[in-house]
Amino acid sequence: MVNKITVVGAGNVGATAAQRVAEKELAKQVILVDIVEGVPQGKGLDQWQSAPIELYDSRIIGTNGYDETENSDIVIITAGIARKPGMSRDDLMNTNAGIVKTVSEQVARTSPNSIVIVVSNPLDVMCYVAKKATGFPRERVLGMAGVLDTARYRAFLAEALDCSVRDIQAMVLGGHGDTMVPLISYTSVSGIPITQLMERSVLDKIVDRTRNGGAEIVAFLKTGSAYYAPSAGAVQMTEAIVNDQKRILPCAAWLEGEYGMNGLFLGVPCKLGRKGLEKIIEVELTPAERVALGKSADAVREPMAKLS
Ligand code: NAI
Ligand code: 2OP
Repeated sequence: MVNKITVVGAGNVGATAAQRVAEKELAKQVILVDIVEGVPQGKGLDQWQSAPIELYDSRIIGTNGYDETENSDIVIITAGIARKPGMSRDDLMNTNAGIVKTVSEQVARTSPNSIVIVVSNPLDVMCYVAKKATGFPRERVLGMAGVLDTARYRAFLAEALDCSVRDIQAMVLGGHGDTMVPLISYTSVSGIPITQLMERSVLDKIVDRTRNGGAEIVAFLKTGSAYYAPSAGAVQMTEAIVNDQKRILPCAAWLEGEYGMNGLFLGVPCKLGRKGLEKIIEVELTPAERVALGKSADAVREPMAKLS
């Protein structure tokens, strides 16, 4: 358990993440911040009142300012607008860049030693905005997307194979968009390569469904995007850091030569511990996977170059 975890943005992802953090007792205090007056206070109070039922002692406090967030150990940034039907993640860019910049500046001022986990979209570009605005080293700015995309891939595979999600090992790398790269060569079921268990045509459909996993949910919800699995993803990363678990999870990290790339955030296998990003693991890729990762990086660089 750490002393304080702040979640900025008390919307669907943020409020659910705060509740999960509290239920897992990852911090003594969980601070929920939003610009809308009353919303973080109301949700925070409601969540705190679930503590005697769910049996946790993490104290959730909602606020519109940053005084209460002072010296947070970890800050999860979910502030911004979410996708509606017909919108791509990149359509959110200019609005969310302004929001994430303002939030990150406040975080750097009030919690200069914190580890930041960005969730706001477009994810890889928002990580860059947060890194620039905080001035934090790359070890302390990470993005959540690969955990979510991998969870979707694993869920679809478990469903198709009628087996436990627990036994599916997989990793989705690249940017959080249509160009993401589910690694078939590293997908297995209890060590059995997936290609021995499933026809390639079925697997290709699952890969495609994974790439469109976010849009599938937006089409159902109509007024917003997914939040149960995204908040679980952000909290899995938080837990790995709080408990120094040294977990290897696909996260957006700032590349400095890894995979032959520099100067962008991209989803890669990361070892997470108490210091944040402890190592980027470079795995061997097939030529096709390497090309796909390069294309995915291009798809991140393009909106990044358009940032005003
Ligand atoms: P939401 O609309 O439910 O919540 C966003 C919250 O941010 C709102 O309560 C809003 O008032 C608040 N906000 C706006 N400006 C703010 C500011 N300056 N300071 C503090 N709070 C501010 O949206 P939801 O569903 O929670 O999604 C949040 C973000 O996360 C979106 O950008 C969405 O696209 C992204 N997302 C990313 C995922 C990923 O895998 N990286 C997955 C799911 C969502
Ligand atoms: C998702 O993948 C919208 O990025 C969000 O659900």
